[in-house]
Amino acid sequence: MQTMEIKKYRDETWDFRTANTKQYTHCFHSYPAMMIPQVAGRILDEFGKGAKLLFDPYCGTGTSLVEANLRGIDAVGTDINPLARLIAKVKTTIIPVELLEGYIKDFESFMFSILLGKNEVKPTIPNFKNIDYWFKEDTKYYLAIIKEYIEKKIDDEDVQDFFKVAFSETVRDVSLTRNSEFKLYRMTERQIEKFNPDVFSVMLTKLTRNKRGMAEYIHLKNNDAKSNIYDFNTVYEVPEDILPPESVDIIVTSPPYGDSRTTVAYGQFSRLSSQWLGFEELNEVDKKCMGGIRRKVFRKFGFEPLDEILSLIAETDDNRVYDVVSFYIDYEKSINNVAKLVKKGGIVAYVVGNRRVKGFEIPNDEITREFFERNGFIHIKTVIREIPNKRMPKRNSPSNMVGKTDVTMRYEYVVILERTK
Ligand SMILES: C[S@@+](CC[C@H](N)C(=O)[O-])C[C@H]1O[C@@H](n2cnc3c(N)ncnc32)[C@H](O)[C@@H]1O
Repeated sequence: MQTMEIKKYRDETWDFRTANTKQYTHCFHSYPAMMIPQVAGRILDEFGKGAKLLFDPYCGTGTSLVEANLRGIDAVGTDINPLARLIAKVKTTIIPVELLEGYIKDFESFMFSILLGKNEVKPTIPNFKNIDYWFKEDTKYYLAIIKEYIEKKIDDEDVQDFFKVAFSETVRDVSLTRNSEFKLYRMTERQIEKFNPDVFSVMLTKLTRNKRGMAEYIHLKNNDAKSNIYDFNTVYEVPEDILPPESVDIIVTSPPYGDSRTTVAYGQFSRLSSQWLGFEELNEVDKKCMGGIRRKVFRKFGFEPLDEILSLIAETDDNRVYDVVSFYIDYEKSINNVAKLVKKGGIVAYVVGNRRVKGFEIPNDEITREFFERNGFIHIKTVIREIPNKRMPKRNSPSNMVGKTDVTMRYEYVVILERTK
């Protein structure tokens, strides 16, 4: 009797329960739903032998780009969030440590000259909407000093970006947000009263930590592999100057698992940093995310496990189903575009979470597999891993009601396929 090979299975060795996920440049900046480097690394070790080019269509802060570059594989990443792109660029761009040390020392001296009253500065404080709601007077003043320092005193562009990444995390830490959450919630009045962060020290601590991360990265990297990161929305066809058709050996990515209104709000997470850094496209981020523009369309996808759930959601809430359908319309388009870029014999690895809407679990792993199979790929395997340390809110509000929470995303799925046609 022929035995059927089981291609979808739980494997604890992919959990990396005790792994340090903040090694080398991975320590630079937090971000929602980051992939853990060990997962990207293992995919590359198992399926990326001989690969020359990796693509990550939703690269976020560049976890898979860093892991590819360390293995001598060039990488291309696209993302619609300017903050994510900045972090990804800095994590993959080597800056000699001695150079960083010099700039950090200068910054430290400047800081002391201000604190000791030897240097009078009158920085321009930005006046974006709600700045006073999120920052105390003193905090605004010191942040504005650092911002002007970065823009005016640092002449090297890569070093400037390195400082901007440390500044972005500083902005978040010294703001009146509850930092344990990715969405923006303000502290209570009592917490605010007691909260007087030392802005300069926070910035210096980040710079020092990131410099150490850069030193470790340089020590480990013994090749010339590079990353290029683009502002691109993969719902549209990828132009040849970003990537020509059939040019990619391997894709390693973790896509959003639903629209950003009801799942992870990447734009919201980045808002305060982006406002301080002057990223203008800011308001567009959540709209540009897949499913960000809600169409009043109900359609089926010709795939039973998805269509059935869409009907069930529609029966419960005929409005909510539009969010879900809008997301999958974009997801399918994005996969069709991304699929064309992979060489025959190339590999795709999508790390996805299955979400619940109105109590119904949507099998993103099966949907991803189906959408790629329609593009000439065959399924190799799906590994189910637990998420012990993924930086994502453990609870969210899938029913979209304030205060109503549900445990979500305990497992994620590493879906691996190969292009055969
Ligand atoms: C799960 S996160 C990726 C995290 C990344 N693996 C990391 O480790 O930092 C998903 C990313 O997809 C981006 N995104 C959402 N819709 C997109 C689209 N249509 N095109 C490109 N990027 C998109 C978001 O801005 C977000 O950064």
